[in-house]
Amino acid sequence: MLFRTLVLKLAALKPFERTTKSRLFRPLVKRFVAGEDLETALKVGEEYAKNGYLVSMDLLGENVATREEAEQETLSYIAMAEQIAKSPHRDKINISVKLTALGMDLGDDLATDNYRRILDACKPHGIFVRADMEASPYTERTVRIIERLFPQYNNCGTVLQAYLHRTATDVQRMIGMRARVRIVKGAYLEPDTVAYQQKQKVDEMYVKDAKALLLEGNYPAIATHDSKIIAELKEFIKQERIPNERYEWQMIFGVRRDLQETLLNEGYNVRIYIPYGAAWYPYFSRRLAERPANLLFVLKSLFKK
Ligand code: FDA
Repeated sequence: MLFRTLVLKLAALKPFERTTKSRLFRPLVKRFVAGEDLETALKVGEEYAKNGYLVSMDLLGENVATREEAEQETLSYIAMAEQIAKSPHRDKINISVKLTALGMDLGDDLATDNYRRILDACKPHGIFVRADMEASPYTERTVRIIERLFPQYNNCGTVLQAYLHRTATDVQRMIGMRARVRIVKGAYLEPDTVAYQQKQKVDEMYVKDAKALLLEGNYPAIATHDSKIIAELKEFIKQERIPNERYEWQMIFGVRRDLQETLLNEGYNVRIYIPYGAAWYPYFSRRLAERPANLLFVLKSLFKK
């Protein structure tokens, strides 16, 4: 956790951002980002779908500062929905979106209206649109937006982060509504007043939340690359006789491809989260912070030149 904190703090510094955006890092960026435009990324998604995976497309971008940018993002998502609807693999592809990309920093009503427009574009095609969960100042606001929209749009849902103290309560709020939840450990830098700081505690809470969702949730997404947790949950699923079609595993494009394949070959539903777009830096820095080897790769390539 100390490493993660350090890298996230480093990533917020402009010189680090400038260096990371240089051509030197392109190979590593390419590992985590499926392309700069929808056409390229959708091809990647369709390739996964052809091989039996489910897919979630994510246009990278967050914290827009103007209504015009929020409008642009919304239109890009609507265009994405139209492209997915034309795909022969449309039944396997859904969408992930960040509400701050839809203008949440300018007000919850704006983000809600923009999210609603995307949901409207997706609903006739049966495309599900999940609101990713961002840093803790947005948690309650995101949960409330889902509570507002879900009665009309059963194609919306969100993400809950096991590292937050509040999450067990949010899990119950979502179970009560029958809204779909993706459970993750949590990727942002959070203070100890709101989030557990010890990996062991986060892992323990993750397993607890995931079990509650598996037992009572509506088609939960168990999103982790932690093989120990996956093994424990597989055991639980077996004991409780939970059918495979009641949930799915989710993993990130470029992370633990071996594990993705193993789960798929074992007959589970596995969805790959596929990010694309030019605004990749914040997403990429969170991926760097998750694994010391990623940063080592960056440092090594610096010294190779
Ligand atoms: P953990 O970090 O303990 O990693 C377990 C193992 O997985 C590592 O030992 C390593 O082998 C591998 N691994 C993990 N990350 C890696 C990386 N970047 N590079 C290489 N190997 C890596 N978070 C959030 O706050 N809001 C959100 O909306 C989402 N959405 C989301 C969607 C999906 C589909 C996934 C899988 C994850 C997210 N996350 C997220 C990110 C999540 O919170 C978390 O930061 C990462 O999944 C890493 O945690 P793990 O559960 O994989 O465990």
